[in-house]
Amino acid sequence: MNTTTETQFFARLARITREKGLDTTPGPVEDMPRPELPGHPAYHHTQRVNAALTKFERMTPPRYLTASTEHSRVCDWADQVAADVTQAPSLMLWGGTGTGKTHAAFGAVRRIALTGPTRFGFLATTFPDLYAALRPGASGDQERERLMRRVLSVPVLLLDDLGTTKSSPWTEETTYRIVNHRYNRMLPVILTSNEPPAALPELMGDRIASRLIEMTTRVEMTGADRRLTR
Ligand SMILES: Nc1ncnc2c1ncn2[C@@H]1O[C@H](COP(=O)(O)OP(=O)(O)O)[C@@H](O)[C@H]1O
Ligand SMILES: [Mg+2]
Repeated sequence: MNTTTETQFFARLARITREKGLDTTPGPVEDMPRPELPGHPAYHHTQRVNAALTKFERMTPPRYLTASTEHSRVCDWADQVAADVTQAPSLMLWGGTGTGKTHAAFGAVRRIALTGPTRFGFLATTFPDLYAALRPGASGDQERERLMRRVLSVPVLLLDDLGTTKSSPWTEETTYRIVNHRYNRMLPVILTSNEPPAALPELMGDRIASRLIEMTTRVEMTGADRRLTR
């Protein structure tokens, strides 16, 4: 339509609507979708929470699926990771058997998942299981390399039970590769151990201990063995 025809068209339209007594006052425009529909921020938040929880559940043993932590320093750490995974330190939970280290570790990761992070990846294992899976001959070279790549680069890594395996040059080198890689890239690790931080140099060697001390927030878990006091 050229401009003259357009003007004539709208003038005619206005006359007709006036003659028919139609109300042409513009009403409110509903351009915000409802919370349960795509396009609404709440919808996308729920999608992210569900995706993160699915990944959490895939990695988590049944005993710790609903773990939550009330420990304020552990909660603070999880909130730091949720706010910016590239700026958060690693976390070391240490203390006696049954004080709730593994529970708090999974609880912290669940807390992160529940914030609906934009990028969430999680791998959980114990040191003994990890060494067993990475040992030459445990599986095909490609499979072991794939596992190592994930351990090195997954956004959140949980390594349970540090210091329970008898150390050897191979375990020390493997641990060094993992710790050094994640230290350099500032990728968070959650470690649990029955041993106090002061025992790290003797347990892991100075190169690993020094990096772990710098990169972790250390939280002592105290109290009785929960398994015996139910
Ligand atoms: N805060 C908690 N609330 C409820 N149960 C807990 C809590 N912390 C630990 N538990 C339970 O106590 C037991 C021992 O905890 P766990 O984390 O496995 O101990 P640790 O790893 O220190 O040896 C587990 O059955 C765990 O589910
Ligand atoms: Mg444990």
